[in-house]
Amino acid sequence: MSIRFLGHFLQPQFTDNNSYSRFCLTNPHFIMTSFYTDAELKELGIKSYGKNVMISRKCCIYSPQSLSIGNNVRIDDFCILSGNISIGNYVHISAYCALHGSKGIEIRSHSGCSARTTIYSAIDDFSGDFLIGPMHPELLTNVQGGKVIIDEFAQIGANCVIFPNLTIGEGAAIGAMSLVRESVEPWTINVGIPSHIIKPRSKKCKDLVRELSSI
Ligand SMILES: CC(C)(COP(=O)(O)OP(=O)(O)OC[C@H]1O[C@@H](n2cnc3c(N)ncnc32)[C@H](O)[C@@H]1OP(=O)(O)O)[C@@H](O)C(=O)NCCC(=O)NCCS
Repeated sequence: MSIRFLGHFLQPQFTDNNSYSRFCLTNPHFIMTSFYTDAELKELGIKSYGKNVMISRKCCIYSPQSLSIGNNVRIDDFCILSGNISIGNYVHISAYCALHGSKGIEIRSHSGCSARTTIYSAIDDFSGDFLIGPMHPELLTNVQGGKVIIDEFAQIGANCVIFPNLTIGEGAAIGAMSLVRESVEPWTINVGIPSHIIKPRSKKCKDLVRELSSI
């Protein structure tokens, strides 16, 4: 078990951030984290969440009532989560990711989003036929979209943009700085703008899940 992981479990419960900060500053062995305590998590009003859920206090959750989270999930600093979002088990959403889930986003177990990736479940019409952005009346804009599914074992690299209404298939990997406009085939590695398959991906990671229970 890593020291950082251990630090999470050793973290005592605090009733306010002042006593938390005081504890961190006066205890040389304590590793400071930005994650909500269990008591703080309860107060967020998240629809449902499981065990070992670590969410940074610096993350913005705009629709906690439509956010479901499984077990063993970590959401890092400066992420933005809005709309209908469902997250499975063993998922890591890295720093600065933005999940815009007005039409739904499902991130299934053992998948993840590397830093600065943005997932849009709906986008404006850039053709010029409509006005753009939330400050214009809805009647004059043309926002279209659909659910985005990140299937089990899929991994999205850093700085990617994922468009609405698509599925990133089971075990698919998306290289850093890619733009995904269409659904992605399972167990393939994809890169580029727009993204395209460069090679198949190994399925060995699926076997490793069986070992999780024995560690
Ligand atoms: C996609 C990726 C997994 C491919 O790695 P790989 O299997 O070792 O592939 P290679 O490095 O052999 O690259 C194969 C080809 O794809 C190209 N390529 C690789 N990654 C690319 C990317 N992100 N965007 C565009 N092209 C890419 C390479 O230039 C190479 O092209 P060539 O055959 O014309 O020379 C890797 O490059 C990547 O982007 N990983 C994500 C890293 C990341 O975001 N980590 C976040 C922190 S954990």
